[in-house]
Amino acid sequence: MPSDTAGSWTPVALSADLPPATVIPAWTPLGAIALWRSQSGRASASSDRCPHRGMRLSHGFVRGEALSCIYHGWSYSPAGGCIRIPAHPDLVPPETIRVAVQQVAESDGIVWIAVGEPAMPPPRLDNLAPIRSLTLDADVAAIEAAAGEKADADGLIRVADCPWVRLLPAEQIGCTLIHLLVEQGRSVADRITASRIAEAVRRRAETRQKDMA
Ligand code: FES
Repeated sequence: MPSDTAGSWTPVALSADLPPATVIPAWTPLGAIALWRSQSGRASASSDRCPHRGMRLSHGFVRGEALSCIYHGWSYSPAGGCIRIPAHPDLVPPETIRVAVQQVAESDGIVWIAVGEPAMPPPRLDNLAPIRSLTLDADVAAIEAAAGEKADADGLIRVADCPWVRLLPAEQIGCTLIHLLVEQGRSVADRITASRIAEAVRRRAETRQKDMA
């Protein structure tokens, strides 16, 4: 996870896995979030807890430029303010009704969430193409050992016996999400090979983690 003295960025999802007008659950070191993309394509993130009765907002739905809760339909803007309460259609919701929001950055096919207030933007990965994400029951140290390389300054782990493959890890509670990337220009066959390599790294890392328990 790239970091500086003020904060860090965690890569929570591939852009391709968050199409317009959808919401998905995601995790940062600070807890669960609802990650959503408006109809116009803007990515936003909020706490995964509705301020009304606590329903998970990642179970909700997106209409236009707002995220709505599945329970009573309260709607929230990307800035976190409540903008509509269906049971009181003539009421302008007070500004005190808000959901906590997180800073989102999106580049090179990756959606990043700020933890704290990082002084620098997330790293550019413009020579790499994202393929897919996997969840591993292993920590980053076990993944590094399984890949045969340590993470670099951008948080990328190169796979030692296939150096055109990179793994971008995001630590979660009790597991690690990794995003698989390959160098730009690789063939479809190479992408399939990379996917198999990532699954082999997963098996080795999880075995290693179990052996260390
Ligand atoms: S719990 Fe979300 S609107 Fe009621």
